[in-house]
Amino acid sequence: MKPNRPIVITGFMGCGKSKIARELARRLNVLLVDLDEKITHRETRSPARLIVEDGEPAFRAIESATLRNVLETKTAGVIALGGGAWIEETNRKLIDQYGCITVWLDAPFEVCWARIKASAEERPLGKTRSQARQLYDRRRPVYKLAEIRIEVQGRKTIDDLITQLILTTDYTDE
Ligand code: S3P
Repeated sequence: MKPNRPIVITGFMGCGKSKIARELARRLNVLLVDLDEKITHRETRSPARLIVEDGEPAFRAIESATLRNVLETKTAGVIALGGGAWIEETNRKLIDQYGCITVWLDAPFEVCWARIKASAEERPLGKTRSQARQLYDRRRPVYKLAEIRIEVQGRKTIDDLITQLILTTDYTDE
């Protein structure tokens, strides 16, 4: 079973995008591209470092260019975005242009914040609880524009996601 359209996973920092995308790609037997990892590889600096050292606008330009490049190569079956990529209209247009299925992993703020706090990963845009909360509230209406919304609820998430994908998409039997 292979989806005929690339699947793009979005959601706030700490919602579990990378982990769920990896599991989904494994189940569907398609190539996973993690946009933040791709950027780190290309730039030899992480998104966090790029934001801290060059500023957020410079990072967003790199993020968009990398996303375009990933979509153009047409090899990715599942793409995990960084939390802010979907917020940029240019990126949403690009994703739409390539006919991707878009999935929003909707996790409660407290779940995201607990993971952000516990993680060793640097997240310059979510340094304090109030900064992260503001960003979460501001971004929610934009995440809602994704085609599929999946409530993040532990192990059930991936099964719900697969079920919804099957209901929403055309598949090629392989
Ligand atoms: C960002 C989220 C990060 C990373 C960068 C910016 C954001 O990815 O792309 O630090 O704007 O929300 P994760 O969502 O994987 O933490």
